[in-house]
Amino acid sequence: MKGERGALSIMACKSGKNFAERIVDNLNRLMHTDDKGTPFRLAQSEEITFANGEIKTIIKENIRGDDHYIVQCIDDPLSDNSINDNLMALLTAVNAAFQSDADSITAVIPQYPYSRQERKKTREGITARQIARFLEISGANRVITLDVHAEAIMGFFSYAKFEDLHASHTIINHFSKNYKTDNLVLVSADVGGAEKARFYSKEMHTDLAIVDKARDYSKVGVIESMRLVGNVKDKNVLIPDDMISTGGTIIIASRLLREKGAKKIFVACSLPFFNGRAKENLTKAYEEGLISKVIGTDAVFHGEQFLKNNLWYDEVSIAPLFAGVISHINAKKSVSELLR
Ligand code: R5P
Repeated sequence: MKGERGALSIMACKSGKNFAERIVDNLNRLMHTDDKGTPFRLAQSEEITFANGEIKTIIKENIRGDDHYIVQCIDDPLSDNSINDNLMALLTAVNAAFQSDADSITAVIPQYPYSRQERKKTREGITARQIARFLEISGANRVITLDVHAEAIMGFFSYAKFEDLHASHTIINHFSKNYKTDNLVLVSADVGGAEKARFYSKEMHTDLAIVDKARDYSKVGVIESMRLVGNVKDKNVLIPDDMISTGGTIIIASRLLREKGAKKIFVACSLPFFNGRAKENLTKAYEEGLISKVIGTDAVFHGEQFLKNNLWYDEVSIAPLFAGVISHINAKKSVSELLR
């Protein structure tokens, strides 16, 4: 017989609060109540930033023995906190849960920080591995994330379990309901994303093309060249990517695809960061008719106003998938059945 896990409890760091509330709503829909017969809610906690910038998290209720989940969205466009502030806030929260004697501590971080530093080329650190160590040393024994940029990161954890969820089914459902899927070709914006694009193309029964992108690593965010392998002439195109940061990759790829005869160009991503001037550049690409729509998940929470003001952007919620996975882990049920 399977042993019981502790009571399921969830708390949020400040920047994870919006997403965590959506997870809690979905948990209440799925499971109706916790095992004490009351609806789920976020455990009370406080995140304090001192005058010198240090951060402290205090958990304001008893979580001893709980199966405890801490939600943090590290890159939060609605906050002035930097990624590093939010990472530190997460680590203080995980350690507060450890000191509070939770039985199990899961960091729910849809955006794995420093995920693009998972290998080294020259004299540089493998910072994605450092993050894994920080999480484990702080007390996390499980991490749940979304479409982690590099699968090698899974192997950076010595004892914490790692669940990498995928936004593909949620995005495909949204796309199929709202846009025409005939005459569509799936395009990967770079060779690293080919596996993801191949998955989409199989699910959507379309052809596949790949853009071969070369970066100039001596300069930050500079793309050296792009060429297309495959055919997009007179086709509508969907480009799935794990993240949009500055928007450079997808805008340059879209220009190449248009040159090669593509008609409507749609973009989908799991993590719509929209850093730097991405918003302005994507608005321009939409107004010029280059990009018809960008679809992203609420794992990067932009808020109602952003959705109203940016007609080029569709948000889909990935919180139901996170809630499903959390409820299955707590009940010791299969998670892989939710990821197919
Ligand atoms: C690259 O390997 C990633 O999958 C993304 O395509 C890239 O990080 C997006 O960055 P940006 O939007 O700044 O081009």
